[in-house]
Amino acid sequence: MEQLHISSTERSKIYEELLPQIEALMDGEPSLIANLANVTAALRQAFGFFWVGFYLVDGEELVLGPFQGDIACTRIAIGKGVCGQAWERREAILVPDVEEFPGHIACSSQSKSEIVVPIFHHDIVVAVLDVDSDKLNDFDAVDEEGLTRIVKLLSSKF
Ligand code: SME
Repeated sequence: MEQLHISSTERSKIYEELLPQIEALMDGEPSLIANLANVTAALRQAFGFFWVGFYLVDGEELVLGPFQGDIACTRIAIGKGVCGQAWERREAILVPDVEEFPGHIACSSQSKSEIVVPIFHHDIVVAVLDVDSDKLNDFDAVDEEGLTRIVKLLSSKF
């Protein structure tokens, strides 16, 4: 596949268009890093998100993985920040206003809202997907569902 084709402007429809293309992009590619990298690029291209990236579980910490956007913090302890809490709670967390979230870790002052979705492999959280927006209240259940479906495609690559 040489390029993404997205014709919709509505987020739910963009997820529908994107999902099979991400599947095709990863088909036959076993490299975790290559797949994570392409998923961040595909999400950034399709939605123009401010920051999109993965943090990978390494012992008691999350360590920065492939991402698109400005430089970011490299290590987050379990239970810390939105990412560390999504890992500990084993569930997606939507943050409409990062300033209202206790313990939020500000990697960029431009980030205003955020969604973090855990990735499971054999029922263990192995990574989280973190998407940040420079707009307040930019994520809802449509993003949670779309991103959850996308990260499920990655599970077998871990
Ligand atoms: N805000 C995140 C840290 C990662 S950056 O947003 C890229 C958090 O609170 O876990």
